[in-house]
Amino acid sequence: MFDVLWREICEWHPTEVQNRYEMEAVYSLILGCGSYLEIGSSNGGSLWVFGSAVCLGGAIHAIDLGELHSLEYLRDIEQKLKPSRNVTLHIGDSRVVPDMPLEFDVVFIDGGHSYEQVRDDYTNYACMAKKLLIFHDIKSPGPNKVWVETGEGLVIADMSDKRPMGYGVRFI
Ligand SMILES: C[S@@+](CC[C@H](N)C(=O)[O-])C[C@H]1O[C@@H](n2cnc3c(N)ncnc32)[C@H](O)[C@@H]1O
Repeated sequence: MFDVLWREICEWHPTEVQNRYEMEAVYSLILGCGSYLEIGSSNGGSLWVFGSAVCLGGAIHAIDLGELHSLEYLRDIEQKLKPSRNVTLHIGDSRVVPDMPLEFDVVFIDGGHSYEQVRDDYTNYACMAKKLLIFHDIKSPGPNKVWVETGEGLVIADMSDKRPMGYGVRFI
């Protein structure tokens, strides 16, 4: 199943912000969870793959600035997920917490990447995670600093990939 999802995001809206092997490992952890919150969706690559790991009928919320270059693609992914899951996109700054449920099985933080921005997203949303709290790009300075400061956990990183990606996963 992951192979199909990966091929789809590569064909629909090619992603340069993901590593296939890292993403597959995280996908397998999310598989079967009932709800998912994503901070930072860009063109919807992670929303499609991780949202597809959520069980049928599950709740998916995503918060993103909705920049001009990506919003159309993100809306497309929203429509693709909608028939099978309850999807809500919140277009706006994540520093303003939208009106939405206060608990999710999975919270994924991948919005702004400055230390201050990641710290604010952590402060606002980490407490909503009931099973998994996931950071992306823990090989880059901002996310890494927050990841280390708040306790670290399981690192999923393809060390042969020199791009500053890698996931940090915390089991709640
Ligand atoms: C690295 S991209 C997300 C990539 C996506 N998770 C994926 O893997 O396909 C970061 C996204 O976060 C958004 N973003 C940055 N700062 C934000 C903020 N303060 N509030 C909401 N979204 C923000 C950007 O607009 C961008 O779409």
